[in-house]
Amino acid sequence: MKIFLDCSDPELIASAYETGLIDGVTTNPSLMLKAGEDPMHVIKEISAIFPWNASVSAEVVGETAEEMLDMAQDYLEIGPNITIKVPCTVEGLKACRELADDDVHVNVTLIFSTAQAILAAKAGATYISPFVGRCEDNNINGIELISSIKKVFKLNSITTTSILAASIRSIDHINNSFKAGADIVTLPPKIFEEMYH
Ligand code: G3P
Repeated sequence: MKIFLDCSDPELIASAYETGLIDGVTTNPSLMLKAGEDPMHVIKEISAIFPWNASVSAEVVGETAEEMLDMAQDYLEIGPNITIKVPCTVEGLKACRELADDDVHVNVTLIFSTAQAILAAKAGATYISPFVGRCEDNNINGIELISSIKKVFKLNSITTTSILAASIRSIDHINNSFKAGADIVTLPPKIFEEMYH
């Protein structure tokens, strides 16, 4: 059972890391760009906070797998704890396959269905990220989605792809994601703090 922070602010991350309870981070390039930050610089700072075997997800963007792979190479030079985050699209999963074949850890994000989770696992994803909150925004039960993915992975002995529950907006989301079989939840720092109360 692991807890990641869903955050792109190195100061907040460093302070939460001091609790000894944080195993990794997921970041979002659009949030960094909105804040006027250079994603490469921010990821370097965040990567330096964690040991080599933690996971810091850096998201690549691009129209094609080649574009995503080019960007991934730059992130991978930062250090061994970098996980490449790709979207669950045809091109994203092509990039995932190539990266996984090179033993790079990949987080396939924007998972809204069991079928997408199956494709991502087939593409060699280390993590798949079902978006619990955004599922709910679209009248999909995000917790049932996690249960369904867990069941399929168990029945098919898929042990190399972890379920990373994302878009977590409440303590109930955390508890229910773990109850449904998530291996990891990624939380905004505010929700992590709420867990203590
Ligand atoms: O981990 C995904 C997260 O960044 C999206 O969260 O609450 O904007 O759907 P939210």
